[in-house]
Amino acid sequence: MRSVARSAAAPAGTPNDFARDLFDGLADRYDLLAEVLSFGQNHRWRAAMVDAVATMQPPPRRVLDVATGTGGVALMLSERTAASIVGVDLTEQMLRRGRKRIIQRSKDDRIRLVVGRGEQLPFADGTFDALTFTYLLRYVADPAATIRELARVVRPGGQVANLEFAVPTNLAWRTAWIGYTRTVLPLAGLLTGGREWYEVGRFLGPSISAFYQRYPVWSLQDMWRAAGLEAVTSRPMSLGGGLVTWARKVDG
Ligand SMILES: C[S@@+](CC[C@H](N)C(=O)[O-])C[C@H]1O[C@@H](n2cnc3c(N)ncnc32)[C@H](O)[C@@H]1O
Repeated sequence: MRSVARSAAAPAGTPNDFARDLFDGLADRYDLLAEVLSFGQNHRWRAAMVDAVATMQPPPRRVLDVATGTGGVALMLSERTAASIVGVDLTEQMLRRGRKRIIQRSKDDRIRLVVGRGEQLPFADGTFDALTFTYLLRYVADPAATIRELARVVRPGGQVANLEFAVPTNLAWRTAWIGYTRTVLPLAGLLTGGREWYEVGRFLGPSISAFYQRYPVWSLQDMWRAAGLEAVTSRPMSLGGGLVTWARKVDG
């Protein structure tokens, strides 16, 4: 893995190159890292996002999980629904690790993982009853175009649900969050995964802050609506450190 600090600073290369480079080197220990970097909240946040799909009526038969990584959300979807699930991700190493986990959990008859980009999905319009995507938008050049592409492959009336890190809106919690992400996260990364994780811990907070400075939550919700999604609802979690958003594809 190229160092995260150098990658973050490097002007050359596309966001896809950056993400591939970053996650290639993290795949083996990603699942532990995700828990550390989400303050142990990742499982709860995922469950809230998956709820938006698992409670659909009629129940979904085909679900797409974009930026599936090591397949954690796809596995949860397979436990909470009877759907067949496709997971798409840019990074082959993440998918390789995901395939192992899926086989270990005997879910390979329900979950298929394919290499692909959220910006250009290899599926026809309206293929899926529901779509989930997690921690993706900070890694794409054009979030509005990506959300349009995600919505394209969902059938009218289908559901889209998303989980992202977020910045707390309450001043006291935001101050604590800034302290946590700028000091505790790099240190926690260093103690659990050495130098590489220290850099990931150091990169994450400023990356989240910069993303929401450029794209406030209201503007992201506008992008969802412009992509043909309605009843857009966001639920801050864990004092605002996580944000789950869901919506329905306009029918007709
Ligand atoms: C932080 S991981 C999240 C993995 C998984 N969703 C989870 O919650 O554990 C972000 C994932 O997004 C993938 N990714 C980044 N940019 C992408 C893109 N443009 N299209 C598809 N996947 C992408 C990375 O390869 C990585 O596996």
